[in-house]
Amino acid sequence: MSSILSSPWAQPENWDFRDADTKEGTHVIHSYPAMMIPQVARGLIARLRRLNADAQTLLDPFCGAGTVLVEAARQGLASWGNDLNPLALRIARARTTPVDEAVLTRESDRLQEALTASRLARWDGPIPAFKGRDYWFKAEVSRALAFVQQQIARQLTDPDVRRLAEVAFSETVRLASNTRNGEFKLYRIPADRLAAFQPDVLALFSQTWQRYRAGLGEFNAALRQAAATRIVYGDSRRLAGVPDAFFDLMVTSPPYGDSRTTVAYGQFSRLSLEWLGVPPEEARRVDRQLLGGRQTPDSPAGAMLPAAVQTGLAAIAVQDPARAGEVQAFYRDLDRALGAITQKLRPGALCAWVVANRTVKRVVLPTNTIIAELAMARGYELIEDLSRNIPNKRMPLANSPSNVPGQTGVTMTQEHLVILRYRGSQA
Ligand SMILES: C[S@@+](CC[C@H](N)C(=O)[O-])C[C@H]1O[C@@H](n2cnc3c(N)ncnc32)[C@H](O)[C@@H]1O
Repeated sequence: MSSILSSPWAQPENWDFRDADTKEGTHVIHSYPAMMIPQVARGLIARLRRLNADAQTLLDPFCGAGTVLVEAARQGLASWGNDLNPLALRIARARTTPVDEAVLTRESDRLQEALTASRLARWDGPIPAFKGRDYWFKAEVSRALAFVQQQIARQLTDPDVRRLAEVAFSETVRLASNTRNGEFKLYRIPADRLAAFQPDVLALFSQTWQRYRAGLGEFNAALRQAAATRIVYGDSRRLAGVPDAFFDLMVTSPPYGDSRTTVAYGQFSRLSLEWLGVPPEEARRVDRQLLGGRQTPDSPAGAMLPAAVQTGLAAIAVQDPARAGEVQAFYRDLDRALGAITQKLRPGALCAWVVANRTVKRVVLPTNTIIAELAMARGYELIEDLSRNIPNKRMPLANSPSNVPGQTGVTMTQEHLVILRYRGSQA
């Protein structure tokens, strides 16, 4: 879709960032599905600030691993992030919290001294139990993970350093688990390859920890000077913990669809959450809680949704009514989130939504048009709709239910950067 209103500040730019380093500074901390690339977050914030040089506050209601929050902090903005995935919140906090270098060195030295193979060989501590542990982790791996975890708890006294180490531990859990590399969903390494899989937990943790320390070293000074970053656990359909009429800017990338058929954030996070001691029922329900995770039976099909959704729903319903219901639930939830977000904005606030179009049952759902129409019905004006190719993002294959083992690849090849201004009264 070409831009509807041409903007005086728009310059021809290439938003693809094909060869960009997406792991600079604290962006190296922990992988996460469908992250925004830092260059897009940086460019969008700068672009919005050219329209409002006085902007001081930014909201990301679907903050995930915190890419937008890191870039907002580096540009001196006070930002709030919100997400329903407890792992995302831990990663976002680790990425945005500066740590005193001297404290980090002292604590890190103590930890490294404790994490030796000989101490591990003698160690006889408790190993956390949870359902499925022995399926997803070899016995010696669980033992080594429990040892690392105990040393983190014993040796690290500074809460910020400990949080960073727990996130490094979570990444180690992923790397050392019997899950197939690079999958969002939980798939086990095939039995014939499992015997050869012998991860060295101490080495994996140590390498991860060194990477994080170097990344933090790059951004520490900027993060220390930044205004505060607040990260809250909450549902973007309500945003209960976020102040009203407070934000000058909103930059976000919502999920592409429900977690079951697009990106399984909960499954991605589950083993880490179990190890981190998040109650199992909480660790296991993340996907159901996210946008589109539950259908609301009270809503007539397509009611209140823009024509672009209704047409799509009708075409999907002919082939698969249940699927149409899932898609409808997702867009209704997206609209609810838009309503909650609007409450949080100051009149005149500028918003950037990074969205990709989906194909369900060969029906294209133009989320960029849909978000623009939903927003215009709530008192926004569309400023611009830019598009970019996605060379870096690994997404599940289209025409889901996807996440088929081994089938990840770039299929949503374009995403849209939809820029809107909130006029100041929600319809
Ligand atoms: C595309 S990801 C955001 C990635 C983020 N921009 C980054 O760079 O890491 C979408 C996020 O929305 C979150 N999410 C989905 N439904 C939500 C809801 N109802 N409330 C809060 N967060 C939700 C998911 O947990 C996920 O972290």
